Amino acid sequence: MLAGRRVLLIIGGGIAAYKALELIRRLRDRGASVTPVLTRAAEEFVTPLSASALAAEKVYRHLFDLTDEAEMGHIELSRAADLVVVAPCTADLMAKMAGGHADDLASTLLMATDKRVLIAPAMNVRMWQHPATRRNLATLLADGILTVGPEEGAMACGEFGPGRMAEPEAIVAAIEAALAGGPLAGRHVIVTSGPTHEPIDPVRYIANRSSGAQGSAIARALAALGARVTFVTGPAAVPPPPGVTVVRVETAREMLAAVEAALPADAAVFAAAVADWRVANAAGSKMKKDGSGRPPALEFAENPDILATVGRRTEGRPALVVGFAAETDDVVANATAKRARKGCDWIVANDVSPETGIMGGAENAVTLITGAGAETWPRMSKEAVAARLARRIAEALQ
Ligand code: C5P
Repeated sequence: MLAGRRVLLIIGGGIAAYKALELIRRLRDRGASVTPVLTRAAEEFVTPLSASALAAEKVYRHLFDLTDEAEMGHIELSRAADLVVVAPCTADLMAKMAGGHADDLASTLLMATDKRVLIAPAMNVRMWQHPATRRNLATLLADGILTVGPEEGAMACGEFGPGRMAEPEAIVAAIEAALAGGPLAGRHVIVTSGPTHEPIDPVRYIANRSSGAQGSAIARALAALGARVTFVTGPAAVPPPPGVTVVRVETAREMLAAVEAALPADAAVFAAAVADWRVANAAGSKMKKDGSGRPPALEFAENPDILATVGRRTEGRPALVVGFAAETDDVVANATAKRARKGCDWIVANDVSPETGIMGGAENAVTLITGAGAETWPRMSKEAVAARLARRIAEALQ
């Protein structure tokens, strides 16, 4: 939530400016106040009236507006916010910021502010890839400017590639992370999520029913507390949360490699439903019926146990390693044994018997098993489990 926080939103002149209106609405939904500033070019795309109506605040446009200077000078305006956000941030605005220009209200505010600045770049793919923009981006990053996006996709100009402004939801998540400075600020946490797909041949695979809902919620909750999250996900049904670094994998072995590549980390949460076995004799081309009526014989090989591999590391082990245990009976006894076997610090155990409706459902009922014993939490939404677990992780890393 952003209750009581103030965002100075500089809207640049690009077609993505319409998304800035949606951003205002979403920020206000979360309790933030938004002071919009429109560049002259932005006014070609959205009107000051729409920005002002959505923000329920005065819109600022001109540097030499004497009434504004009497009421609130540009220096004060640049400092009254908790965070300055530029969305869309055009190639021109990036160049101005990198060069330190101050020839209109937006660029002057950006020079005068003593607050952190988050930009959401948006431009044509060629402009984004232009060496000048690359140089400007490097300068801005070195100056400590935060960025969100751009994303890859079809663009209003008809071309395809990176340059599309991040969606309002992703910008809100980046704003929350920037303002969080929360208990996990400066901490890196790895989260695995979703199922794995183990190929039988190039078109067939063995999978499981994990939706990735709990893993996604945990990654979101950790990011909301300010953590830098590396989210290593198998092919899940639920999309990854915004504001985290997503690494997509298919197999257990790819997941282990991605986790090891993401180390070092302060904590790691293994919420993925990893296949215990892979097909050892997976075919290189599509398997066909041979007319004999004999089905192919699949041979299996054991997959690496990612949790146990990381939990047992002697060097570079995260300070806190958290595993999950989906059990159908003797939940606490089995999960306690699993905690010892896998070398992890905590196990989040849950009963996934069909009658609980937990697997694939919106709720979870978990028991947290730590070195101090077992602690059963009331049944709650997967988001609430995630939020509570993230708070516990933050406390443990203090
Ligand atoms: O042994 P079991 O599969 O019940 O253990 C579950 C825990 O171990 C989960 O945290 C899961 O993410 C992790 N795991 C793993 N790699 C495997 C199997 C399980 O990381 N190959």
